[in-house]
Amino acid sequence: MKNLLVTGGAGFIGSHLVRLLVHKYPQYRIINFDALTYAGNLENLTDVDQAPNYVFVKGDICDAEAVRLALKQYEIDTILNLAAESHVDRSILDPLAFVRTNVLGTATLLNEARSLWRDRTDVLFYHISTDEVYGSLGAEGFFTETTPYDPRSPYSASKASSDHMVRAYGHTYHIPFRISNCSNNYGPCQFPEKLLPLMIQHVQAGKPLPVYGKGENVRDWLWVVDHCTAIDVILHKGKDGETYNIGGNNEWKNIEVVYLLCELMDEALGQTPGTAAGLITFVTDRPGHDLRYAIDASKLKHELDWEPSMDFREGLRQTIRWYLDNPEWVVRVLSGEYQAFYEKQYAHR
Ligand code: NAD
Ligand code: DAU
Repeated sequence: MKNLLVTGGAGFIGSHLVRLLVHKYPQYRIINFDALTYAGNLENLTDVDQAPNYVFVKGDICDAEAVRLALKQYEIDTILNLAAESHVDRSILDPLAFVRTNVLGTATLLNEARSLWRDRTDVLFYHISTDEVYGSLGAEGFFTETTPYDPRSPYSASKASSDHMVRAYGHTYHIPFRISNCSNNYGPCQFPEKLLPLMIQHVQAGKPLPVYGKGENVRDWLWVVDHCTAIDVILHKGKDGETYNIGGNNEWKNIEVVYLLCELMDEALGQTPGTAAGLITFVTDRPGHDLRYAIDASKLKHELDWEPSMDFREGLRQTIRWYLDNPEWVVRVLSGEYQAFYEKQYAHR
């Protein structure tokens, strides 16, 4: 392994992963291939963008020629595919954008890798996916690597399709591949449309905190850097053709996580306890809202010796601190193309 193409490296998880790889593997060349959509922000990487083993290429994974050029020019032997449309609410408003990037884009990458790599065995297509492909759980049980796919939103259906394309190309054209399916990430640099950073912004602005439905839906929260260390372990110690589930073993009802966040926000802002929670407002539920996701990550623990390291309270404290210390980052990402969507989707709440 020498030349790694990380697609979506300017996004939330991608930027943490690029940072980890650039620091830990000076002998590798890390090519960040990103279209810089509303969710991609090179400011996430200003601390590593001068590193000698880092290169940024602005490109769209649906653009076969751009992908081909990058694969050839940098003699790519490993692809880590994180580029995606990633927000479920957006997928409900504009499903075809998700089909384009997540399905067509992944297929385009696979197709170009297939042409270039032929039957090479010293290469790897590592696809980063989500636990949402498995559908929704009731009160009991966990998703394992053998849980049948049952995606229920345009986002999760597009990610499930991309997983299927990766397995199909692997099986048909013998491209060595790995897939990991991860639970909800949190941490610095997450676009402020996702639950936790959205709530942090609204508490600061004294705006209502929109909890969908009754707030009974359950998510399994994982510190973003723990996700990246899992990817690193799978990249270096995983087996070709295998799937690995990644989770935090950290289930919370949305309403509970919002109360905890409010408590920590009051603490961070020096407010009277209960001030932030007073902003909680129950709003119309997300259409088709999956009730519960919960990951069984025991395969990763037993086979590759990976476990999450961050305590949730501490991770939330660090996340809040980062957003409070970086208001200009928030202003910049909330401007431009994102603003129209923001007005339509959130401004009335
Ligand atoms: P994000 O939305 O923050 O970032 C996506 C990145 O992909 C951005 O930098 C964007 O510019 C880039 N991108 C989008 N379309 C592109 C295209 N056509 N060509 C090239 N680049 C493009 O997403 P994220 O939360 O960092 O998620 C990264 C990956 O991890 C996604 O594949 C997502 O499905 C998966 N995932 C996310 C989570 C989570 O909780 N955020 C959990 C499990 C899996
Ligand atoms: O499970 C992994 C997935 O987690 C990733 O694949 C996705 O890319 C990522 O966006 C995330 O999806 P969710 O839909 O779970 O994340 P989101 O932050 O949008 O919402 C978390 C929960 O909070 C969900 O049950 C919906 C709810 N919610 C969300 C928002 C934005 C609210 O109640 N209010 C809100 O304003």
